[in-house]
Amino acid sequence: MAGKTDRTADRIDVADLTQDQAVEELARLSDLIARADAAYHGEDAPFLSDGDYDALRQRNAAIEARFPGLQRDDSPSLRVGSEPAAAFGKIRHAKRMLSLANGFSDDDIAEFVAGIRRFLGLAEDAPLAFTAEPKIDGLSLSLRYEDGQLVHAATRGDGETGEDVTANAREIPDIPTALTGAPAILEVRGEVYMAHDDFEALNARQAEQGAKTFANPRNAAAGSLRQLDPAITRARPLRFFAYAWGDLSAPLAATQSDAVARLHKLGFQTNPLMQTCENVHAMLATYARIEAQRATLGYDIDGVVYKLDDLALQDRLGLRSTTPRWAIAHKFPAELAWTRLDAIEIQVGRTGALSPVARLSPVTVGGVVVSNATLHNEDYIAGRDSKGAPIREGRDIRVGDWVQVYRAGDVIPKIRDVDLSKRPEGSAPYEFPQTCPECASPAIREPGDSVRRCTGGLICPAQAVERLKHFVSRAAFDIEGLGAKQVEAFWRDGWIATPRDIFTLQDRFGPGQVRQLKNREGWGETSAKKLFEAIEDKRKIPLSRFLFALGIRHIGETSAALLAGHYGTWPALRAAMAEAQDTGSVAYGDLLSIDGVGPVMARAILAAFEAEGDEIDALAACLTIEEATRARTDSPVAGKTLVFTGTLERMTRAEAKARAEALGAKVAGSVSAKTDMLIAGPGAGSKATKAAALGVQVIDEDAWLALIGAA
Ligand code: IVH
Repeated sequence: MAGKTDRTADRIDVADLTQDQAVEELARLSDLIARADAAYHGEDAPFLSDGDYDALRQRNAAIEARFPGLQRDDSPSLRVGSEPAAAFGKIRHAKRMLSLANGFSDDDIAEFVAGIRRFLGLAEDAPLAFTAEPKIDGLSLSLRYEDGQLVHAATRGDGETGEDVTANAREIPDIPTALTGAPAILEVRGEVYMAHDDFEALNARQAEQGAKTFANPRNAAAGSLRQLDPAITRARPLRFFAYAWGDLSAPLAATQSDAVARLHKLGFQTNPLMQTCENVHAMLATYARIEAQRATLGYDIDGVVYKLDDLALQDRLGLRSTTPRWAIAHKFPAELAWTRLDAIEIQVGRTGALSPVARLSPVTVGGVVVSNATLHNEDYIAGRDSKGAPIREGRDIRVGDWVQVYRAGDVIPKIRDVDLSKRPEGSAPYEFPQTCPECASPAIREPGDSVRRCTGGLICPAQAVERLKHFVSRAAFDIEGLGAKQVEAFWRDGWIATPRDIFTLQDRFGPGQVRQLKNREGWGETSAKKLFEAIEDKRKIPLSRFLFALGIRHIGETSAALLAGHYGTWPALRAAMAEAQDTGSVAYGDLLSIDGVGPVMARAILAAFEAEGDEIDALAACLTIEEATRARTDSPVAGKTLVFTGTLERMTRAEAKARAEALGAKVAGSVSAKTDMLIAGPGAGSKATKAAALGVQVIDEDAWLALIGAA
């Protein structure tokens, strides 16, 4: 649209415009402002400065004032969402949106099934059915229907809270806006995707209009759904497959396959390739069949998902932190390509790790152009593993080599192999730097660590910046308008040195100060105000996010959630850390008692609090750290410490532990004064004696089942 209008109209003074020119100019402005809004709110970086953006809106308004009859239906003056404040609203999912554990080999799948049998205590020959269906490579969406009406649609977001894309979902033909015969509350979950034909056609249209083209159908689907203007979504053919559900007022069926059939009957598209399989053999056969059809399906899939068919058993298996125990994604093998390694660069991460990155001659791998890949660490480049054993039969990787690149799904591409027959003459083995390329501090490798680390700590600019970037990243503080780019610029100019400085930014560069954010290049009144608001908004933060944001080595999202769940509140966690200053203490043992926390993690946490406790406290003092929402707080065992002993007859130890934890209890391995309850099956020995001596309540398995309502 924009490219096709009279190219001179945009330079003419509003007062001199003819009516025809005004029509064209209003169309151009409407389109341009819509794209600027989308770029500002979407994943793309804004392409207009605030000043230019404001000028366009003013021009639009001035033309409308002169020619009131020409105002367009889609005029930016009328559009909601044209104001930055009207970005997507947030929706908290009534039930968490889960992701899936991955398997890559037949053995992984056999182990997945065996693990379920063990967990449930089922014999090897007891029947156990699974569904197998394509894993659609799109983005997941949750649709909430109340009394048969679509009330909202939300993206996955972080699983807890997603973006409100209701208006856009209504534009997708596969998504019914009203249902008959559905439960009063029904959340349907599935995948939004774009078919290959539609993707090609969209890219052709975009190219013709000089607009941005998309790297793959997945990005195109994401970009089209996350549009502030639903008219844009309407013009982009998106589709939807339903494959799961969230909140429900009544069960859909007794099995996964029947529940999906029910969704189909309600009017949703469900994948026709879904099969029910009686055993691992049948599951793998379905995988092979689906893989063979992959190229002719007309849409992207990246694996096969297996789900336990019996919903009552799904319930018993429950969840790990973010993935169900009853499902797994069997990913297709990675895609490969050969190209030249042009250079090896070293990046310094937030924990000081020196990571070698391969700069490649660009090559297409599975539809995506790849020009960077990870080289892991110095041993990997040298052709040996962390124990010194050869990998790639000992072939090292050198600059100038032909290397094989592979990528699986969204992960960073990797280098798998090197072709020695194409090695240029006179090439030399790569010499891994012994000093930090950013701050020149010695870079050392500790025994047993495969990674060389800069010893500069926070004097190392790379570490300081990377920590800040991590702090504001999506899974951490996720401050709107403060991304990696902005943090880097603020850091460079000395505006922000530590995370705490983010929360004093407004005091130092807000209204009334000598130097103000709104006067910085690329910023303006509106964007500065918005950033300050966004920062204020994040002063209140869930404990798990806060812990993750600290960027402690080995503490990812999952372990941060485990820690938050275990300690519940920031003061409790902080006090435990203070108490646990030595690794022999009771508090250290308490850390280790958390399922999923081992000695490496425990030591890393203690080390971080020991080295940076003051800084962390100062940061915490600027914030309101919210108590962790435990799995359940209304259950009779919430917050209690339980110990199981003896033989349980109705469920395995693993299931009992998982059930107890899901109900908000802590499960410990041994009886102490802190134990609230011992569940003792037949054959209970010394633990029962000790519990009796300590006056701890002892119950049997039947009483336990009655207590948790599973009798
Ligand atoms: S089930 C209860 N089934 O894969 C588990 N997910 O890697 C919820 N996906 O976040 C997911 N096709 O976006 C399921 N047939 C399928 C799927 C599928 C694609 C996506 C989904 C999920 C991601 C996990």
